[in-house]
Amino acid sequence: MRKIPVIIDCDPGHDDAIALIIAFGSGVLDIKAVTTCAGNQTPDKTLNNALRVLSFIEKYPIVAQGALEPIMRELMIAPEVHGESGLDGPELPPPSFEPSQKNAGDVILDILRTSDEKITLIPTGPLTNIGILLAAHPEIKQKIERIILMGGAAVGGNWTPGAEFNILVDPEAADIVFKSGIPIVMCGLDVTHKAMIFKDETEKFRRIGNKTGKLVAELLDFFDLFHRKEGFGFAGAPLHDPCAVAYAIDPSIFTSVDYFVEIETKGQHTLGATVVDFKRKYGQKNNVTVVLDLDREKFINLMYSAVKNLT
Ligand code: BDR
Ligand code: CA
Repeated sequence: MRKIPVIIDCDPGHDDAIALIIAFGSGVLDIKAVTTCAGNQTPDKTLNNALRVLSFIEKYPIVAQGALEPIMRELMIAPEVHGESGLDGPELPPPSFEPSQKNAGDVILDILRTSDEKITLIPTGPLTNIGILLAAHPEIKQKIERIILMGGAAVGGNWTPGAEFNILVDPEAADIVFKSGIPIVMCGLDVTHKAMIFKDETEKFRRIGNKTGKLVAELLDFFDLFHRKEGFGFAGAPLHDPCAVAYAIDPSIFTSVDYFVEIETKGQHTLGATVVDFKRKYGQKNNVTVVLDLDREKFINLMYSAVKNLT
């Protein structure tokens, strides 16, 4: 079976780490590169985390660091969710391989330019790298099959009442991406808050008996603690970023509707909101496939099979 060529741009991050693990374990993605952005933690930490996770699962793709900060704002990070390292919880040894000397944007550009097939981009962090790339090289759009991203929400937010973290960190980058004309699949909070994993399911990963299963369980132990804290009201941990990877692997697990979506870049209370034209008031062409629901059992099974395939 032909593998789907993808580039994953991430900010690990517990759920980014699990997304990477699933992508490599699935066997259906041809991962051309893993690039990192600043977001859940500072850019050096997210790069180091990507390298540590990949080293641990014994996969050695091209890894490249991207922009050090958002296009025109100060970097906002999330240590309260992911800890000081960005991947607190499990004990992960230092990386066993080096990143590329090139910038993520140049790496993505080279891969797209030299590829004879279109490539899917899977961003699971702020859209800074992709936004800068598209602004500087708009012609490269033709080489992008689609962008399946974790970010945004049709309704509500998680960092402010109206905005999700990845979009809020760099709304200008998101605006470039959403206006690009490239087909976009938005796995936002509408679906990721339904992509929950519960304690008993975490134990199943631990019981797989391989080191990756143990790592996934330990990542989830930490992530779960934050989400079940008083005031957050979650019964488990929402698997945000794995949704974007799972969509690339098997979109039939998900339910979606196409809409016209714009990014709020100026709002006093709504900065970073993904404004979905539900009632089709603007009469604009749909630009985003908004993912709204999933078959949770199939999703967990997909993750489980992928983790089982690794060491
Ligand atoms: C997103 O923000 C980050 O904390 C997660 O890694 C995910 O990409 C959820 O809002
Ligand atoms: Ca992320």
